[in-house]
Amino acid sequence: MQGWTDGYVTEIGYTHGFHAELLPWSMAAALGPRAPIRPDAGFDYCELGFGQGFTLALMAAANPQARFWGNDINPAHVAHVRGLATRAGLGNLTVSDRGFAEYGRAGLPGFDIIALHGVWSWVGPVQRAEIVDFIARHLKPGGVVYMGYNVLPGWGQYMPLRELMLASVMRGQGGLPDRIQGALALADRLRAAGAAHFQVNPTVSARLDQLLDRPVAYLAHEYFNENWHPTYFTDLAASLAPAGLSLAAQARAADRWEEEPRRQAILTAGGAAAADDPAFAELLRDFLSNRPFRRDLFIRVGGQAGTGDMAGQGDRIWAALGTPRDLPRRATPATLPVEPPFDEAHALLTALMQGPQAEQALLAPLGDRGPAALAALAALSLVTPALPETGLARRRESCARLNALLLADAQQADRMTALACPVTGGAVETSRIELLFLAALEKGTEPAAFAWKVLEAAGQRVLRDGRPLDTPDRNRAELADQWESFARRRLPLLRLLGAVQQDG
Ligand SMILES: C[S@@+](CC[C@H](N)C(=O)[O-])C[C@H]1O[C@@H](n2cnc3c(N)ncnc32)[C@H](O)[C@@H]1O
Repeated sequence: MQGWTDGYVTEIGYTHGFHAELLPWSMAAALGPRAPIRPDAGFDYCELGFGQGFTLALMAAANPQARFWGNDINPAHVAHVRGLATRAGLGNLTVSDRGFAEYGRAGLPGFDIIALHGVWSWVGPVQRAEIVDFIARHLKPGGVVYMGYNVLPGWGQYMPLRELMLASVMRGQGGLPDRIQGALALADRLRAAGAAHFQVNPTVSARLDQLLDRPVAYLAHEYFNENWHPTYFTDLAASLAPAGLSLAAQARAADRWEEEPRRQAILTAGGAAAADDPAFAELLRDFLSNRPFRRDLFIRVGGQAGTGDMAGQGDRIWAALGTPRDLPRRATPATLPVEPPFDEAHALLTALMQGPQAEQALLAPLGDRGPAALAALAALSLVTPALPETGLARRRESCARLNALLLADAQQADRMTALACPVTGGAVETSRIELLFLAALEKGTEPAAFAWKVLEAAGQRVLRDGRPLDTPDRNRAELADQWESFARRRLPLLRLLGAVQQDG
């Protein structure tokens, strides 16, 4: 059918999402001494099915000492990331529009990391076998595979809605965007007609409401591929075992935070079978949390243990992603609440406002509750691992080149909302309006007025509480407030992270 390649949507480009869990130094922090990479050495990182490749470009800019590779079957995606790499002078980023099998035969090096985000559950059995073969051929011993995928049972209740919408799209008229709108309208009409499916499944009705608000480019890829297979963890683990992979860690600190509180419930419910069989224990974990998406790090047997320490001596460096005012008393970043030891967490963030610091020195004044406070801050994404100063000047140069492009792009569109960070070897999420403020600072013009000029020229409005503000005066006033808060709280942080390099 028109609009699909091998059952995959190609008529509509994917969104330009930034995925923090793909960052190599976040993976290294999750893996500790088993990490296959270290800051003072180059490494090879491959992302399969990278979409628009925005995260890949950010990582390449922030790690000029390493080499980044990747493929995507959509030529427009490949052209996009190639354009970024060429214009930002990212000579360490090489991409291809070949499918997994052909790409696997393309004379590639061995990889330390192979990452797939939102790919495994969106391709069919043939492509999944090709992915396993690719990993078997190209992952180094001790290398890591990141898998982000839709998992069961968390996705289970939404599968009938997706079948309904796909059946409608297959029968619809016109281009894919129109058929997608038609499919959503059909589901909405059925609900309005009192369809019992929505009545007995209230979470499905809530999901339909969310979908009605999502951009068509996201919906096209998330729901309208012919292939769409949420997977049980046990099935994924069995598929990857022939490539010598076993589960090593949860990629996100928020998910690692939940491991201890869930452990006892898993053992109580699953008994000896759960104690002896890690894959079965993970299945029980997924029933307990009912999360819809997993982000797993698998490791290939045969690596040298103890080589990947972040700073080389068991000490890790941390940088702040938020200010002490951003610290909540309680929040739920994954499926269980995090209640940080508040005073200690506050003291840690306050200390990090001076700049990145090594873990031992950071924790020294805090006593017993310091490590839990740091883990809670990581779970809340308020701190991130950072790199030693060696190589910083080179990282600053390549990040500055990509970030200048991103500031220019924000004046045209709302799509690539993150900046490369030389201090962390990673990236930090922003909003388009923040990028417009930063573009104004570069030009030496008044930020709120500049942001409004760009938005007004494009017929756009500032949102407050999800609604567009109506008059120009209201838009200007809102932007002035946002600039004032940004200048006070976020801008100093972005400077500490090196994402903004002009002085105050
Ligand atoms: C749901 S999107 C996820 C994109 C990206 N990883 C992200 O999370 O932003 C899946 C991607 O896989 C790509 N893809 C599908 N089949 C492929 C194949 N056989 N070889 C390479 N890429 C493929 C699609 O073009 C699409 O960009």
